[in-house]
Amino acid sequence: MRDGAAIPTVAYSAMAIAHEHAMVTCDDAMAFIACGNSDAGRSEGRAMYKRILVPLDGSHLAAGVLPHVQELAKSIGAEVVLLRVAFAHIFPGADPIETQVTAVQEAETYVAERAKGLQDSGVRAEGKVRYGDPAEEILDHVTWDHIDLIAMATHGRTGLKRVVLGSVAEHVLRRATVPMLLVRVHPPEEPQG
Ligand SMILES: Nc1ncnc2c1ncn2[C@@H]1O[C@H](COP(=O)(O)OP(=O)(O)OP(=O)(O)O)[C@@H](O)[C@H]1O
Ligand SMILES: [Mg+2]
Repeated sequence: MRDGAAIPTVAYSAMAIAHEHAMVTCDDAMAFIACGNSDAGRSEGRAMYKRILVPLDGSHLAAGVLPHVQELAKSIGAEVVLLRVAFAHIFPGADPIETQVTAVQEAETYVAERAKGLQDSGVRAEGKVRYGDPAEEILDHVTWDHIDLIAMATHGRTGLKRVVLGSVAEHVLRRATVPMLLVRVHPPEEPQG
């Protein structure tokens, strides 16, 4: 983990987008844990963040946020909701219902396994699946499930190194009504030429 003071450019540019929302981010770690503040996430003795939403797209990069969330949830006693938004491309000749059901089932298995990993470490965690547009579903879930913090990685399945934030991360950051914790993950080098 790096020192909380060493917040890189991504934090400032994202803060400019987030303006009125609190946001904590740094290169490989969470700033407020790195600050060593034992009251992090608490306000006047009450837990400020009771339910943390972690959107996961099934990629290794998106899952990079989980070790940070695990430590955060343990230290402030928060519950964790893992959300995967499933979407199936229906190819000609394929059964649309079966394709969608398969996508949802795969997503359910994925979040259940990840939730189990958190539970085994002593964190209260559950997996949820929605179907549709990822950013819209994530934002709707925040309200519906009484979420008070969103924690996500800057990149996911596509993982383009040349963009600071993936499109879903940026969309959620622009419209989120609760604070966000963004953890920068490092996409693989793109081929030259
Ligand atoms: N289908 C999804 N379900 C849940 N969370 C998602 C989904 N898609 C993206 N996310 C969240 O958004 C984060 C960033 O992914 P995003 O899709 O923005 O970047 P990307 O895949 O690298 O690029 P892009 O999708 O713009 O081509 C992921 O780490 C994850 O937290
Ligand atoms: Mg993506």
